[in-house]
Amino acid sequence: MLGKYIDNKNEAPIAVFDSGVGGISVLRALIAEMPNENYWYYGDSANAPYGTKTLEEVRKLTISHVDHFIESGAKAVVVACNTATSAAVRILRQKYPDVPIIGIEPALKPAVLSKKHPNVIVMATPMTLRQEKFHNLMERYMGMAHIIPLPCPGLMEYIENGNTQSEELLQFIAKLFEPFELQKLDAVVLGCTHYPFISREIQKVLGDKVMLFEGGPGTARETKRRICEAGLLNPGEKPGKIVFENSEKTDSKEMLCKKLLNL
Ligand code: DGL
Repeated sequence: MLGKYIDNKNEAPIAVFDSGVGGISVLRALIAEMPNENYWYYGDSANAPYGTKTLEEVRKLTISHVDHFIESGAKAVVVACNTATSAAVRILRQKYPDVPIIGIEPALKPAVLSKKHPNVIVMATPMTLRQEKFHNLMERYMGMAHIIPLPCPGLMEYIENGNTQSEELLQFIAKLFEPFELQKLDAVVLGCTHYPFISREIQKVLGDKVMLFEGGPGTARETKRRICEAGLLNPGEKPGKIVFENSEKTDSKEMLCKKLLNL
């Protein structure tokens, strides 16, 4: 890919990376924000889930994938995975100070601001919730809301297997929320990029009164800002191309990505 873009960096793709198919929820927001960009979506489903691995494992995997994107000529990298972001984004920005590298974090701010002193649950992987990055985020808003982190091991696997609607999934979600008084709940943050694909099922368990928040749209706006600032916006006027790649190397993952993206 590198040679092709040496003369025109602006046409080079934005690499969008996740541990699997979840980052498609971020790609969706990126396309809505910047439809003329070219995108290279890479899912590491062969190594998923990341959320139950150690920090070192996730860091190593993420850095090696991002090295590959940048060596191959990507003009920017969106780490469309909360888990990989909390493990590696700081190191990646130090390693590549000249490349826009954008991460994602649980959309806690809009959830906290949605009401006066709301009760907020943050659904995310065990690793995301363990990291200092999340503890700092939570501390920032602690005085303004009652915030409960809810680790959801086993949940991303449903989406990864293409199961976004089923009785079994509903029961799994209901079990996660069993310890809480749902009538008192105001907002739920979908702190893993896989979860927006099951928001209908989550809403069924929680009821319509509870508001759901996802980080994709905010990340897409931030990506656009960074790309513009770096003078890297694609001046092309027609819709960009999307290339899908997955470490599992099966057609089924590519098909699932396209289905989730509504292609
Ligand atoms: N999609 C990833 C995230 O946003 C996590 C899924 C996983 O456990 O690999 O955190």
